[in-house]
Amino acid sequence: MTDENICIKLEIRNRNLRREFESIIRSVPGFDIQKPGDVRPIDLWIFELSDEHDKDFQHVQNILNSGEVKELFLASTYSDQTLLKRAMQTGAREFFDQSVKEEEIRQALEKFKERRERLKNETPGKKGQIINVLGSKGGVGTTTIAVNLAVCLAELERVESVALIDMNLVFGEIPLFLDIEPTYNWSEITKNISRLDATFLKNILSVDPSGVYVLCSPGYLSGYNVASPAIIESLLKVMRGMFDFVIIDGGHSMGNISLKILEMSDTVLIVSNLSIPCLANTNKLLKSFYDLGYPERERINIVINRHLKNSNISIEDAEKSFDKKIFRTIPNDYNTTISAINKGKPLTQFASKEPITENFREMASSICPSFEEKEGKKKRKFWKFFSL
Ligand SMILES: Nc1ncnc2c1ncn2[C@@H]1O[C@H](COP(=O)(O)OP(=O)(O)OP(=O)(O)O)[C@@H](O)[C@H]1O
Ligand SMILES: [Mg+2]
Repeated sequence: MTDENICIKLEIRNRNLRREFESIIRSVPGFDIQKPGDVRPIDLWIFELSDEHDKDFQHVQNILNSGEVKELFLASTYSDQTLLKRAMQTGAREFFDQSVKEEEIRQALEKFKERRERLKNETPGKKGQIINVLGSKGGVGTTTIAVNLAVCLAELERVESVALIDMNLVFGEIPLFLDIEPTYNWSEITKNISRLDATFLKNILSVDPSGVYVLCSPGYLSGYNVASPAIIESLLKVMRGMFDFVIIDGGHSMGNISLKILEMSDTVLIVSNLSIPCLANTNKLLKSFYDLGYPERERINIVINRHLKNSNISIEDAEKSFDKKIFRTIPNDYNTTISAINKGKPLTQFASKEPITENFREMASSICPSFEEKEGKKKRKFWKFFSL
């Protein structure tokens, strides 16, 4: 047994079948069967279905959702088309019924080994930035900001690729904002967590005309949209390797999943406006993040949306209450934003010249400054040094 070997959890009640599996696994080099007390992560889980299919599939789904095992093979002494379909929908990579031949199991194990080798050798590509857009309250403009920031970043020449994830896990609105009809959504990830890699993701993400890759949330309730912190962690790791920027519409709920996203975010944009309830909520969020110890203070930025110059609460008042500078303000322009939403277009396409659109372009530029801008900043510092 070495740490390099693939660890298999074998959960087969039928004694003869179990012996058969054990002997095949032992005949293929590079595999270990998990023994009691073995605490290595499980690479492959081989599970035999009993007669209680509903209960078994629920159990399997829960384990897959927890991220405890990386890949699943199912076995069953009984089989029909419905059972096979269900097995595949759950995310099983292989399904062995009573007609399976020894050689087929051996081949499935060899293929598993190849997949693992391929993954190991895949050079980590980019180290994209994860930007988590969080609402301090519902309706403050979180989706408007996530969508338009993603599009403006994608339009920068220096940015190669941008992804947008809808973390409003049910009935998210991104498809409406961008007028896309996603073939796949979040539930595809939770169903196929064992297949999660760049190739799989590329096939299920929708692409907006601006070039933003979108992972939408399911537009209906189903048993498969249960994400978990472990799934989010795997997903974001893969996406960070594929895209320069991963923008998350984090909605305004705070649970285990949101905490995992916060932990992994390079930048958090808390969306607020200059109203007492919103400011109070933003303060509570800030305090909670400081108490949690993450994300680090400098990664948290506050964006004031729907800003009116003559607001009776000023930016300075807000900064005083947060004891923090406001990162950006976005002007109030209900007409333009709602018309763009109703047309299913991002602002750069619907109202390219409006001040609010320019504001989003500036925000994208400030998040991803050009080489010249960065150099410019360095030069200024250098000049300042000599002028002291
Ligand atoms: N800068 C702005 N000026 C005026 N109206 C805006 C602005 N940003 C967003 N809105 C409007 O606010 C409304 C809510 O926007 P949006 O759906 O983006 O908010 P949200 O925080 O994502 O809401 P939810 O909590 O429902 O997900 C929309 O009608 C939109 O037109
Ligand atoms: Mg929203």
